Amino acid sequence: MATTNGHDAPGSGRVVSVQGPVVDVKFTAVAEVPNVYDVIETETATRQPVVLEVAEHLPGQVARCIALTSTLNLRRGAPARCSRGAVRVPIGPDMYGRIVNVLGQPIDLKGPVAAGETRAIRRPLPGGRVPPRARHQGTELLETGIKVIDLLFPLVKGSKNGILGGAALGKSILTLELIHNMVKEHHGACVFTGAGERIREGNELYHALAHHEVLDKVQIVFGQMNEPPGARFGVAMTGITLAEAIQQENKDVLLFVDNVFRFLQAGSEISTLLGRVPSETGYQPTLASEAAEFHERIRSAQEGGGSITSLEAVYVPADDLTDPAVVALYSFLESIMVLSRERIQLGLYPAVDPLLSSSSNLDPDIVGPRHYAVAEDVMRVLQKYEELRRIVAVIGLDELSQSDRTLYARARKLQNFLTQPFFVAEGYTGKPGEYVTVAQTVEGTERILAGRVDNVPEEQFYMIGQLP
Ligand SMILES: Nc1ncnc2c1ncn2[C@@H]1O[C@H](COP(=O)(O)OP(=O)(O)OP(=O)(O)O)[C@@H](O)[C@H]1O
Ligand SMILES: [Mg+2]
Repeated sequence: MATTNGHDAPGSGRVVSVQGPVVDVKFTAVAEVPNVYDVIETETATRQPVVLEVAEHLPGQVARCIALTSTLNLRRGAPARCSRGAVRVPIGPDMYGRIVNVLGQPIDLKGPVAAGETRAIRRPLPGGRVPPRARHQGTELLETGIKVIDLLFPLVKGSKNGILGGAALGKSILTLELIHNMVKEHHGACVFTGAGERIREGNELYHALAHHEVLDKVQIVFGQMNEPPGARFGVAMTGITLAEAIQQENKDVLLFVDNVFRFLQAGSEISTLLGRVPSETGYQPTLASEAAEFHERIRSAQEGGGSITSLEAVYVPADDLTDPAVVALYSFLESIMVLSRERIQLGLYPAVDPLLSSSSNLDPDIVGPRHYAVAEDVMRVLQKYEELRRIVAVIGLDELSQSDRTLYARARKLQNFLTQPFFVAEGYTGKPGEYVTVAQTVEGTERILAGRVDNVPEEQFYMIGQLP
């Protein structure tokens, strides 16, 4: 802040331009200009603190900054102070059950977070080029209790997994159910990062977690729709930092991000605000490197200690899986679970479409030969069913050969069996949630495929847990 004699104190500057969330701060000497990602603090005419992050340097000792908080009422001439360092957030066990913003400040009206250790949310990545899909070391399975995931897209400790889907296909509900099951069944630690989604969703998430008594195992950070792009982008780093701190205590942690598309979109907004020319796809020229940096940060955080397993919800604009922002993520994800609108229309929840999804974790060395053989068979039957379905739509079921008719009927039972009532969706389905072990899933699937339940009508497989 300005000193009483009118001169700026060392490390202090003045706001010289405010253009929405882009703020320029001028310093008196070159040596005083802070580094990129350093924090600059200033305040508005109404004394609201404003936190800025240096994005780039301009000639004339000017730091061009991206605001992490609202710049409403921020005026030119406002004194600004540089703290010479990146944003630091509190970490540790006191963060469980709390909701903080990108700056690590509590936003849950439960008072200040107990003063403990803090950590910078930005850190240099280890040098050298890292191959995309740098394979994680572990092959240890994490049972989710969700049949379709455990059977076909198994979760492996330390892996990165995407839940992709257009608007309202159940990404957030699936995320919530995963948190529920991981905490309830495995007492796992979770970090939930809300990036750029609706404001009320924070509220709903909090109450759902509290209702299901899993809140005390979850650390939550939000940078939602109403916040400036800097906050929606930076919040991903805050989330990773919290997860990293848990992992370094030799614990396994699940990092949930809802929604990674919004994170990339915030990066695109920042790029536009900084006057960078977009690439021909309309996105920021740095799209690929931002997607890479995010995933590389997760990967490099795993050196030693426990593991970080990421589950990333990805909004797919207009259900278009070839959207450049969505495509930019593919190479970093070991499992890609695609939710489809067609399945929603058929009432098939969760709407994971096995034929559009893929997973490199479905490997006999990871899941074992029996599970692998069953999963392979499932994929074969579902693929064939897709073909038959088109034929049946034209010529009717009766024209199929006996063996095709059998396969068709089993595939429909299988499709129903892969639906499941969720604990967190009891309000929607009116059915109590079901947790199904991997062994129960594999066994039930095997029975359907082997024809041992051919005489049971297909409706009886719909929205159930394990086979009776
Ligand atoms: N497993 C489920 N069981 C029953 N209903 C579900 C399930 N998943 C989703 N739904 C229904 O779909 C709606 C949308 O789900 P959700 O909010 O999770 O979608 P989303 O993909 O996160 O959407 P958005 O893109 O808007 O964030 C829910 O409000 C609920 O009615
Ligand atoms: Mg959602």
